[in-house]
Amino acid sequence: MAFLEMKHISKYFGDVAANVDVNLSVEKGEVHALLGENGAGKSTLMNILYGMYSQSEGDIYLNDELVRIKDPRDSIAKGIGMVHQHFMLIPALSVIENVVLGLQGQKFVLDLKTAAKEFSELAKKYGMEIDPWAKVSQLSVGQQQRLEILKALYRKADLLILDEPTAVLTPQEVEGLFEMIRGLTKEGHTIIFISHKLVEIMEICDRCTVLRQGRVVGTKKISEIHDRKELAALMVGHQVDMTVQKKDIPRGEKILDVKDLSFTNKKKVRILKNISFDLYGGEILGICGVDGNGQSELIHCLTGLETATSGHFTIKGKDMTQARPRDVLAMGVSHIPEDRLKYGMVREMNINENLLLMTYRKPEYNKHGLFDWKKITEKNEKLCEVYNVKTPSIHELAGNLSGGNQQKVVVAREMEREPDLLIAVHPDRGLDIGATKYIQNRIVEARDRGAAVLLVSTELEEIMELSDRILVIYEGQVMDILPQKDATRHQLGLLMAGVRP
Ligand SMILES: Nc1ncnc2c1ncn2[C@@H]1O[C@H](COP(=O)(O)OP(=O)(O)O)[C@@H](O)[C@H]1O
Ligand SMILES: [Mg+2]
Repeated sequence: MAFLEMKHISKYFGDVAANVDVNLSVEKGEVHALLGENGAGKSTLMNILYGMYSQSEGDIYLNDELVRIKDPRDSIAKGIGMVHQHFMLIPALSVIENVVLGLQGQKFVLDLKTAAKEFSELAKKYGMEIDPWAKVSQLSVGQQQRLEILKALYRKADLLILDEPTAVLTPQEVEGLFEMIRGLTKEGHTIIFISHKLVEIMEICDRCTVLRQGRVVGTKKISEIHDRKELAALMVGHQVDMTVQKKDIPRGEKILDVKDLSFTNKKKVRILKNISFDLYGGEILGICGVDGNGQSELIHCLTGLETATSGHFTIKGKDMTQARPRDVLAMGVSHIPEDRLKYGMVREMNINENLLLMTYRKPEYNKHGLFDWKKITEKNEKLCEVYNVKTPSIHELAGNLSGGNQQKVVVAREMEREPDLLIAVHPDRGLDIGATKYIQNRIVEARDRGAAVLLVSTELEEIMELSDRILVIYEGQVMDILPQKDATRHQLGLLMAGVRP
């Protein structure tokens, strides 16, 4: 038998069959991909292995032994580690506190110093310099993820489950992660790599098991797969149209005008330095840059979540520099935020309520302060159907949806408002190909109907495909703004690194 065998696993959440008779066999030392669209059941299957859920049916064998995994503690004790899609770190604690948190068998007061020393050695071995005393809140997303991996290794995990590990990483960070994965397998570690990014699976994995609607479609050797299209078809069950159609339309009126905008944060760091650009109706301006170069702060200023320190900007000719989020939205602006859990939705509210969040003041749905729930529910159910939100019902809590489906809810709500200005930050982060192409086409549709679109993305592919003009941001400054047709990947890559050709 293989190192890990999951046999005839089924898992039901009420009426939803998340996994149906799934067989998964993983060899020691391989990188095994779990591929499937949003809602295919990948996270559920791995959460069962990690002891977060118990299966409704089926057995798990580890090293030829039938195992019952009660909870994550149990799983960790059996040498299994999991890095979740949403990290489980506590931002206010230090790196080392997070590492030792919940460790079993600590009879004495925890000796943090010794732990910190051991941890630093481990980190160094995997090429990561990280201060064990730094607060987790000070780490970049990429560093937090590596910390999660190191935390699992510190607990002696030899099987590591990575749930969509590259969804939040920049190209450089992805390379770093792959480097780490290669080092780990060389030492005999086994990796289960969940993703829907075909290029990555082709690059880093040995074998691939494809899930569709909770069932296994098949397991294939990566070396026997011809191209990405073959993998995509396997995943969605039919050929995928990978193209985005854009209409040739004249440029409309000036919608957004940003002049010399600067922003200094609470720690007195000057994040944005004299940013100037404009944006017209019927145009997509792509903001391209490595994560953390001021994109988030720029968008926060433009949407009223922060106030610029100097400079100003107008929306449809009206100065909005000091405006609050609500005032910005009232100008016909839609915002698909970077952090959907913080600004995009309320996890404790159901989907229906989340979809209502921005429109509740509309008289159609709100008569003298009373909601017309029947009308609202009907409309929102249709919206979920159109945007293909996979959920047992519209009354499910938003927090229970998979990351991709949460994103679809936010996108559906924001697009539905038919904005004049659409601010979209990583609109398809964490989405599968089908959903990504769908969202991209909706964005282009908004542009074709005359909306101005500000698109922030770290995916060069996407920037090149959708934008009319491209603004490259580096260390809070505009490096250049160029028409899409004149831009090359090479040139953008240099600008993103702060080099003017
Ligand atoms: N805790 C839960 N309660 C109810 N339904 C759930 C829960 N977790 C997952 N599901 C449902 O199970 C299905 C599979 O979800 P998931 O395993 O997260 O998919 P994937 O990771 O492939 O995107 C989805 O339809 C999802 O809505
Ligand atoms: Mg998942």
